[in-house]
Amino acid sequence: MHKYLVFITLLSLLLSNHIPSTYSQCIETPLFGNLRYQNCPSVDEVSKGSINDKAKGISSSLVDDNNNNNNNNNNNMIQILFNCDKSATPELCNKANIAFNNAATIVSNTFDLKVPLIVNASFVQLCGAFVKCLAGQPSPLGAAAPSRFMPLNDDDGIVRLYPQALVKQFQLPKHPQFAPIDINAVFNSNSSTFWFRGDPPIGKDQVDFEIVLVHEFLHGLGFVNSWDDYINLDNPSSLTPNPSFLFVNPEDSDVKNGTITFTGFQEYILDKFLVLTKDNSSTTLITNKLNQFTPISTNFTDEKDFITAFTKSPQYIETTNMFQNSITRGTLAIRLPDNGDNVLLETSLVPYKPGSTLSHVDFNTFSNTTDFLMRFKAPRQAILDDLTTINGNDPNYTNPIGPKTIRILQALGYVYFIFT
Ligand SMILES: *[C@@H]1O[C@H](CO)[C@@H](O)[C@H](O)[C@H]1NC(C)=O
Ligand SMILES: *[C@@H]1O[C@H](CO)[C@@H](O)[C@H](O)[C@H]1NC(C)=O
Ligand SMILES: *[C@@H]1O[C@H](CO)[C@@H](O)[C@H](O)[C@H]1NC(C)=O
Ligand SMILES: *[C@@H]1O[C@H](CO)[C@@H](O)[C@H](O)[C@H]1NC(C)=O
Ligand SMILES: *[C@@H]1O[C@H](CO)[C@@H](O)[C@H](O)[C@H]1NC(C)=O
Ligand SMILES: *[C@@H]1O[C@H](CO)[C@@H](O)[C@H](O)[C@H]1NC(C)=O
Ligand SMILES: *[C@@H]1O[C@H](CO)[C@@H](O)[C@H](O)[C@H]1NC(C)=O
Ligand SMILES: [Zn+2]
Repeated sequence: MHKYLVFITLLSLLLSNHIPSTYSQCIETPLFGNLRYQNCPSVDEVSKGSINDKAKGISSSLVDDNNNNNNNNNNNMIQILFNCDKSATPELCNKANIAFNNAATIVSNTFDLKVPLIVNASFVQLCGAFVKCLAGQPSPLGAAAPSRFMPLNDDDGIVRLYPQALVKQFQLPKHPQFAPIDINAVFNSNSSTFWFRGDPPIGKDQVDFEIVLVHEFLHGLGFVNSWDDYINLDNPSSLTPNPSFLFVNPEDSDVKNGTITFTGFQEYILDKFLVLTKDNSSTTLITNKLNQFTPISTNFTDEKDFITAFTKSPQYIETTNMFQNSITRGTLAIRLPDNGDNVLLETSLVPYKPGSTLSHVDFNTFSNTTDFLMRFKAPRQAILDDLTTINGNDPNYTNPIGPKTIRILQALGYVYFIFT
């Protein structure tokens, strides 16, 4: 019996393309706050005895599928932990709650999730509680992101950071420890910009809350790019993947003055498919060059010491070149592995806009197409029940998640439903 279990573990480790890296440290990116490091020791599902639980889960979801001819009721695969601001009216809270669940249904009807996901969904006064809002400036609408990124060895031998929601779908026998929540989502309850199902006709400056949520859920599933300026925060000029460090005490990692061990610039899984359009070469080649600046596991006395060494290195020029690419339209794309099509990413924004640049599709290319959803700006005066004004007037394609967007998520490792 015991031997059999060990055999299964070995077999699934051999079959799996995704093996936890030796680093037992994960990255958490709070929606409004600084990135932090978190210990996430490897968890062994087999010794926990949960293979049986999994089998149960699979058979019950098969039963669901059989009863589910009309794509409804799939939303139990995305569980919404909804919390609403006390100052919002019960009617408004109810509308927001319905929208969260509808958006979850759209996502779980598009992707065949194997393991349920938990979204911590908050509909609250953002200003004051989460962010400082400046008078006269538009207040933020909200955001969503993976709760935790975990380092896994990818099939090309490179360690990449995977969003927790995706790691769960792999059902690995061994995986870094999960946070209790898979996706964090926070939206402003004090905004007249959102339009809710049942409201009077949508105004010309309003956005359908459900469309915004589906967009944000896809960020939470991993539609997010790691290339950013982690060094010159006030005046972006150089892009790298996430610079990863091991700390003696990761929980104290906002104390930036202790010794740090550099473990390399680590890409998110989306970045594996990023190419320079001038020759369709993978930007992982650039990441690899950057990582030759110092041996992996080099210790630096502090963050400043690391930055000084890196900015003086001959590799640094690559990061300023990438910055130039990120503000030049048409330079960077996601290359779909199934047929080699390129999906242009947003590199038109000047000045560079962290969070918008590169983590979205090219605005002009995908306006008026069925892949409009992942543009950096939400569509105004368009509602889910009639997407024809924004999707290139295609009445037959009613999913806000377009075919290329689906294939990007598929490249990351999500399985999608094929409708006949
Ligand atoms: C969910 O988010 C809210 C608001 O950020 C937070 O107060 C709460 O602790 C979170 N819940 C969990 C289980 O993380
Ligand atoms: C809510 O929005 C109104 C109108 O935009 C603004 O005047 C008010 O200060 C906001 N309240 C909070 C708590 O952000
Ligand atoms: C960081 O620096 C501050 C101020 O110099 C000091 O008080 C603190 O003890 C240092 N922390 C660590 C972990 O070295
Ligand atoms: C890059 O790939 C795209 C999409 O497959 C193709 O249209 C383009 O010609 C290629 N560019 C180069 C320089 O090979
Ligand atoms: C870096 O520091 C860690 C922890 O302090 C230590 O275990 C490791 O040996 C050091 N690495 C090198 C290359 O000196
Ligand atoms: C999309 O279509 C609308 C209406 O037909 C048009 O006004 C707009 O310029 C188009 N946008 C792009 C980027 O092609
Ligand atoms: C939508 O589907 C109908 C019926 O199959 C077809 O006649 C029509 O040409 C399609 N329209 C578009 C824009 O694809
Ligand atoms: Zn976005």
